[in-house]
Amino acid sequence: MEQSQVKDKSLAPQGYLQIEWAAKHMPVLNQIKNRFSKEKPLKGLTLGGCLHVTKETAVLAEALSAGGANVVLCGSNPLSTQDDVAAALADEGIHVFAWRGQNTQEYYQCIDKVLDYKPVITLDDGADLVGTLHSKRKEQLKNVKGGTEETTTGVLRLRAMEKDGSLKYAIIAVNDAYTKYLFDNRYGTGQSTIDGILRATNTLLAGKTFVVGGYGWCSRGIAMRAQGLGANVIVTEVKPVRALEAAMNGLRVMPIAEAAAVGDIFVTATGDINVIRKEHMQKMKDGAIIANSGHFNVEISLEDLEALSTAKRTLRPNLEEFTLKDGRRLYLLAEGRLVNLAAAEGHPSEVMDMSFANQALCAEHLAKSDKMAPKVYTVPCDIDDNVAELKLKAMGTTIDKLTPEQQKYLSTWEMGTT
Ligand SMILES: NC(=O)c1ccc[n+]([C@@H]2O[C@H](COP(=O)([O-])OP(=O)(O)OC[C@H]3O[C@@H](n4cnc5c(N)ncnc54)[C@H](O)[C@@H]3O)[C@@H](O)[C@H]2O)c1
Repeated sequence: MEQSQVKDKSLAPQGYLQIEWAAKHMPVLNQIKNRFSKEKPLKGLTLGGCLHVTKETAVLAEALSAGGANVVLCGSNPLSTQDDVAAALADEGIHVFAWRGQNTQEYYQCIDKVLDYKPVITLDDGADLVGTLHSKRKEQLKNVKGGTEETTTGVLRLRAMEKDGSLKYAIIAVNDAYTKYLFDNRYGTGQSTIDGILRATNTLLAGKTFVVGGYGWCSRGIAMRAQGLGANVIVTEVKPVRALEAAMNGLRVMPIAEAAAVGDIFVTATGDINVIRKEHMQKMKDGAIIANSGHFNVEISLEDLEALSTAKRTLRPNLEEFTLKDGRRLYLLAEGRLVNLAAAEGHPSEVMDMSFANQALCAEHLAKSDKMAPKVYTVPCDIDDNVAELKLKAMGTTIDKLTPEQQKYLSTWEMGTT
């Protein structure tokens, strides 16, 4: 069977340095890796991962390998693979099928190559691996013990599969751990989305009108960081409570149809489809910049943008100019794919430390459990708490402990107004 397929194996030395840099900032995962090397909880198991192949994912892959797993990886987005990192992983004997700039056919071929290794545990980011197993490779389903899912969109898809009875094995929704979404989705996406926009455009955010599509965990982070850099932030939402929260956080809230006319920069992170479409593009100012940080490249209607345009050209990496029939120019970043991974490096290692600690501990949990019923599960509380404790310890932060008196007070009802 093919061992690996990457863009350029000679990039491995640079990839090793990147992985070393990431590992220095991932103390929780390192502790797990050290324990895994001794205990080998994943011994003999093939783990198939469809994850963004970044330096942080490499640290996760190394931790899983240290635990005895045979790790096989492909990318979870055609533009997010870091080719030097993929080369280093291939060099250390981890099976990796990923390169930056894949077309859709190549993307799914790489998923197939992972499945050729017949993984018994899957680690997915967006549920394309699970989706392929359940559609094209059904005969393999009986051998799968369970899986994990990294992101909101993947969890939504898997819950839909559970609801209509098509999910055939247990999935742990890593995304829904507190130590994942409160930090990764909010601070990780917040910082790295701004990083992606700046690397692609080097535009000044201070004084710009910055429109954020959604006010969920990711979009809250993006809005917070854009505001911190002096942008005038507008939020668009469909949920009343979230819109209210944005308004009370001092942000302007309005429908995208109104925001379209006033925004300088637009970023979507909703997990929804066609959030920015023809009627909005028709109202946008000349020079407006449009980007997406949601999982799939469906949040901005690329068909509409193409249909409205008479010409397009690439000005800089990840920056395409579309000239509309009336002469206005709109600027699309990273082909509408997640701008933080395609135009920057994804989340900082410190954040992925917690997300991937959850991944590693959930893989161990699945390996040690009897086969679980085919449902979407939340991350066990002890794993979530353990990740938070290890992270605090690594940060040198200590916290208080409840006294016996406080424990009693908090668990009884007799004592009221005194
Ligand atoms: N870029 C990254 O690295 C990264 C990291 C984590 C998650 N994600 C992805 O980002 C997306 C959002 O994730 P999240 O955790 O913030 O989800 P979330 O559910 O917390 O938030 C999404 C928000 O978008 C709103 N929304 C839905 N449709 C909308 C519309 N048409 N207009 C305006 N608002 C709308 C929802 O009401 C919700 O408040 C998902 O696709 C997720 O997979 C990306």
